[in-house]
Amino acid sequence: MSQASAERVLISADQIRKRIDEMAASIVADYPEGPLYLVSVLKGAFIFVADLARALKRSGVRIEFMGISSYGKAKTSSGQVKVTRDLDVNIEGQNVLIVEDIVDSGITLSYLTRLLQQRHPKTLEIATLLDKPERRIKPVKIKYAGFQIPDEFVVGYGLDYAEDYRNLSDIRVLTGAD
Ligand code: IMP
Ligand code: MG
Repeated sequence: MSQASAERVLISADQIRKRIDEMAASIVADYPEGPLYLVSVLKGAFIFVADLARALKRSGVRIEFMGISSYGKAKTSSGQVKVTRDLDVNIEGQNVLIVEDIVDSGITLSYLTRLLQQRHPKTLEIATLLDKPERRIKPVKIKYAGFQIPDEFVVGYGLDYAEDYRNLSDIRVLTGAD
């Protein structure tokens, strides 16, 4: 049986809220008008995109979801990425912002940006709540990053370990998992 637990708070709900407001203000300044497509990666980014979208004080915000196969139960990337749910809108000529929970090795996002770029959006940028730069294997150009965090496995606010802990309202360090 796993003895995993998540007691140490790394980023509080209040810190998250404040930082999202700042990120949203930058995004609105950079994209003042016209449709803006938030392409959110399931499942981890679902809470972040919900809060970020509501913090964007502008009209024309579109929310879309993609499924990308990720970690399964393990804590490290398999290095294998595949689309499990594709967009059902055409993003050609649109301003597209990929919304991610965390950039770790960068494998997922380098794959996804290459894939979406082939569909010829007008612009394609990345907003991530968390960034673990020490773990990067593939370079990724992040336009908006909420918090840089050390090389620790975190859960909460959408992020899981084996599908657990997504419902925590803060971000915590997971300890005792294999
Ligand atoms: P990457 O492809 O290694 O950059 O991994 C990206 C995905 O791995 C994220 O979207 C998360 O789903 C997952 N991931 C990476 N680090 C963590 C973590 O510390 N906690 C929970 N999930 C993580
Ligand atoms: Mg994810």
